[in-house]
Amino acid sequence: MTFALRDVTVRLGDTVALDAVTLSLEQPRVAVIGSNGSGKSTFARLLGGLVPATSGSLTVHGLDPAREAAALRRVVAFVFSNPDAQIIMPTVEEDAAFSLRSERLPRAEVTSRVAAALAEFGLTELAERAAYDLSGGQKQLLALCAALIRRPGLVIADEPTAYLDARNSAIIADHLLAPADRQVVLVTHDLRLAGRCDVAVRFDDGRLTDVGAPADVIDRYEASLRC
Ligand SMILES: Nc1ncnc2c1ncn2[C@@H]1O[C@H](COP(=O)(O)OP(=O)(O)OP(=O)(O)O)[C@@H](O)[C@H]1O
Ligand SMILES: [Mg+2]
Repeated sequence: MTFALRDVTVRLGDTVALDAVTLSLEQPRVAVIGSNGSGKSTFARLLGGLVPATSGSLTVHGLDPAREAAALRRVVAFVFSNPDAQIIMPTVEEDAAFSLRSERLPRAEVTSRVAAALAEFGLTELAERAAYDLSGGQKQLLALCAALIRRPGLVIADEPTAYLDARNSAIIADHLLAPADRQVVLVTHDLRLAGRCDVAVRFDDGRLTDVGAPADVIDRYEASLRC
């Protein structure tokens, strides 16, 4: 459960979105914090193989995202802020099952995995409901359920609680950060949520400016905002 970047720069158009980042982490829960436009989403997308490094090198769970993209896709699951963009199938249970399509499991196993996952996320009663009719919080629960049902080794969550109220944020966070045999990279502006992780990193203007215990990294970030 490790990712390692050596001197990685990502250019997007004229912008240096990540600037010579060197970092290696193996903690299960990694918080990524920093101001708007600092490079957090670019970092998340880089780890998940959605944007390439312009220079430098990296491995994610032993894989080179540039050369082993298909293998990386099997390891990684994404969760974003907007669940509407992540829900694909008409009903709740179909959407959860759709995530398992690439695993080519026997139908009975799909049915039992979906039932167990929906139960874990408190979605059993909603199994046959139209996914698009769910509330925002329920949709995000479904999106996370559909992401985790594949048992990914790395979950990349980019502001997964941005549109949620406090109660739904806490429910999503509890599922996301529950101890499990996976690594979670959590990009968030919710510093309390970041504080629940095992390690935090901070970006400023594309540069990695802090790595350490979340409480310390958050304190230094808040102090920098007061300057
Ligand atoms: N596709 C793109 N083309 C050009 N520049 C981009 C592109 N995507 C992002 N950028 C720029 O890269 C920089 C980093 O953006 P990024 O989305 O990683 O920031 P962020 O830390 O996630 O910000 P936020 O907190 O607002 O989500 C910003 O200056 C942004 O304008
Ligand atoms: Mg972002």
